[in-house]
Amino acid sequence: MVNEETTLQSLLRNRKIVRNYKDSELDFPQLSEVAEHAIKIPTAGFSRGIEIVHISEKENIVAIAKYSNEDSYVAKGFEKWISKSLSLFLIIINTKAYHDRYSQLDKKNATNSEDWSIPYWFVDAGASMMNCMLLIEEMGLKSGFLGSHNMDIENIKNHLSIPNDYLILGFVTAGVEKSTNVKKKNTKRKKLIHNEYFTK
Ligand SMILES: Cc1cc2nc3c(=O)[nH]c(=O)nc-3n(C[C@H](O)[C@H](O)[C@H](O)COP(=O)(O)O)c2cc1C
Repeated sequence: MVNEETTLQSLLRNRKIVRNYKDSELDFPQLSEVAEHAIKIPTAGFSRGIEIVHISEKENIVAIAKYSNEDSYVAKGFEKWISKSLSLFLIIINTKAYHDRYSQLDKKNATNSEDWSIPYWFVDAGASMMNCMLLIEEMGLKSGFLGSHNMDIENIKNHLSIPNDYLILGFVTAGVEKSTNVKKKNTKRKKLIHNEYFTK
């Protein structure tokens, strides 16, 4: 029997970061449901400290593009990316939710959340990022990701009324891919999977 590729396997195989979107006449009402499904993630201690801001209004998308330095990106010769997106999904982190949860009685033997060697909120935030990307892929659109190191966090928080003590991981972009003939980087194959034992 031939092993058929499952839906999820196909979504994972086809997903790729796309940074060039074209204008589209079509409506994608499913975009308004992405956040609701993407937030279905496990969170450390069930802290529920990850939240998603869905941005779909053109003027807000344009404002976020400005605060994400799109102008300097375009000046380097790249196409507009953020402002051409149909939706942006900001992944934001409420670290206080984790600290509050891990100071509860049933967690008194767990490592204090202030001392985690790997803060679990970044793990949880990454899970919601990936959910967004797969849901976008599933509706026939393409996703990208802009990390917060590339943006004016203060202005974005002000513009979207995000509380000051929240962290912004970055945002997932969604759009209709403009051209599929973007040159692929000639990257050497890297060994990323190990069976039983770590091998070089
Ligand atoms: C946490 C994280 C941060 C990223 N930040 C950026 C970014 O700021 N700008 C950008 O163009 N791509 C960013 N990327 C995308 C990566 O640079 C790269 O395009 C991606 O790993 C390619 O994966 P793919 O070929 O499987 O699509 C980021 C990806 C991740 C997971």
